Amino acid sequence: MRMRGSRQSRAKFLARTPRFLVAALALANVMPVLTHAQSDGLRPFTVVGDAVPDSLTGAKGDAARGRAIVADRQVGLCLLCHSGPFPQERFQGNLAPDLAGAGSRWSEAQLRLRIIDASRFNPDTIMPPYYRVDGLNHVSVSFRNRPILSAEQIEDVVAFLATLRD
Ligand code: HEC
Repeated sequence: MRMRGSRQSRAKFLARTPRFLVAALALANVMPVLTHAQSDGLRPFTVVGDAVPDSLTGAKGDAARGRAIVADRQVGLCLLCHSGPFPQERFQGNLAPDLAGAGSRWSEAQLRLRIIDASRFNPDTIMPPYYRVDGLNHVSVSFRNRPILSAEQIEDVVAFLATLRD
């Protein structure tokens, strides 16, 4: 089995990088994701603190499309675990916080990183990393080297969640 966890890649990056540079990056609280972004088909993105400030596509997502992705039982699967303001959707999940108010609790940048990879905040989370291709076990062939959601879909979901205000 190939193990290319992002943590492992980061450890390798740190091992090869002069200490002063590591310290400078840590000070700036910026850890660029230099790992196999291109070869994996992921667009490179920069994590600042607990957030990814820049859109993965360089453009703002579409909230209506994002709503459809979140509610879709095949694409986002969010309602497997979450409930939310979707009066017409039956059988919503109760394994995760209600998505109502998510846009008040988190900035778009914070939401972006939580959808990209929730395990950065809780290593034991059951929430799938939607924009990561390494460290995924038991994924079907069609998902290998392909994130669950595309950069465009991530931005659509972020745009939708941002509209969920208390
Ligand atoms: C398999 C279960 C599962 C799925 C599927 C899932 N999540 Fe989560 N999500 C969680 C859990 C559990 C948490 C609570 C924090 C943690 O444990 O990571 C969470 C946390 C969150 C949070 C932060 C919640 C808050 O307001 O405090 C957001 C936003 C979120 N998820 C959005 C989504 C979206 C959007 C999708 C679909 C694209 C999704 N989640 C799919 C389980 C899931």
